[in-house]
Amino acid sequence: MKKLLILPGDGIGPEIVAEAVRVLEALRERFGLALEWEQALVGGAAIDATGGPLPEETLKLAREADAVLLGAVGGYKWESLDISIRPEKGLLGLRAGLGLFANLRPALLYPQLASASTLKPEVVAGLDLMIVRELTGGIYFGQPRGIRTLEGGEREGFNTLVYRESEIERICRVAFEIAGKRGRRVCSVDKANVLECTELWREVATRTANDYPDVTLSHMYVDNAAMQLVRAPKQFDVMVTTNLFGDILSDCASMLTGSIGMLPSASLDAAGKGMYEPIHGSAPDIAGQDRANPLATILSVAMMLRYTLDAPCLADRVESAVDRVLDQGLRTPDIHTEGTREVGTRAMGEAVVAALEGSS
Ligand code: IPM
Ligand code: MG
Repeated sequence: MKKLLILPGDGIGPEIVAEAVRVLEALRERFGLALEWEQALVGGAAIDATGGPLPEETLKLAREADAVLLGAVGGYKWESLDISIRPEKGLLGLRAGLGLFANLRPALLYPQLASASTLKPEVVAGLDLMIVRELTGGIYFGQPRGIRTLEGGEREGFNTLVYRESEIERICRVAFEIAGKRGRRVCSVDKANVLECTELWREVATRTANDYPDVTLSHMYVDNAAMQLVRAPKQFDVMVTTNLFGDILSDCASMLTGSIGMLPSASLDAAGKGMYEPIHGSAPDIAGQDRANPLATILSVAMMLRYTLDAPCLADRVESAVDRVLDQGLRTPDIHTEGTREVGTRAMGEAVVAALEGSS
């Protein structure tokens, strides 16, 4: 029996996770999924209950589990706290504490949503892109960091962008492996014209590519990559990049698909253990209103079934169920367009559960 730790977190987190749990329950009851789960606190919810965003107990349970399903963290309520104890630190602590260095963020356009994207349908139709983001290094974690007061009293903020060759190599390998099973193209994104750290990134990516003769490697500066993503996104198959660039480019890529509310993610360690979460945040402005889109979280469950639980047929089943509810014309407000039916978080979750039955 595999073990899952569920961390609903803050804002819309609990609502969207509840719908994902409904899907898991159906898979367990009706389709033989052997999985048990428990819940724990992270983020603002953990700050309120324990004083810190990542209680020892949560990290311990996460280490013991085979997979973690996370909603979202953060909200207005905790924004004035010191950065070292904000809800986001809970998420970063989990990523670092579990060694989840490989973040996979697929941007897939469901044809039914082509008109929900702000880009022209012909630009995004057929889009199927995978962003592989390094997740436990780079400027997010580099030392030294802080805000110091200079002589004369002016303050200065500083962070450090740092990558070791081994860190670059292992994330590039993940990208090459994935590309080998898809379109066999990897675009490594850097800023090698300005930052030495990413000059090394480019060199290591090039060297590592020699071990993957079936895969073609190209390089792109991050500013150009941002432009190309909105100009002609279908030129990309797999993109591999640093923690910060991947954070930015994946939000950008999400909009190609109609809504950030559609994008799941997997964060994996070297052994394939993973944390699964939607890439959107806690959206405190719509929390508790039954307006949030649960599909990114439900699709994160599909990624978990595929990457950690070794249940690809159930993953397919969940993905086709999502496809079917979109076919039925059901839309949460973020993807709602004329001629479709607007539904809430809960109704969307229920519709996916109902559609599981008929899916392959
Ligand atoms: C993401 C989020 C996080 C990040 C925040 C909440 C710390 O934006 O998962 O993309 O920056 O990594
Ligand atoms: Mg982000």
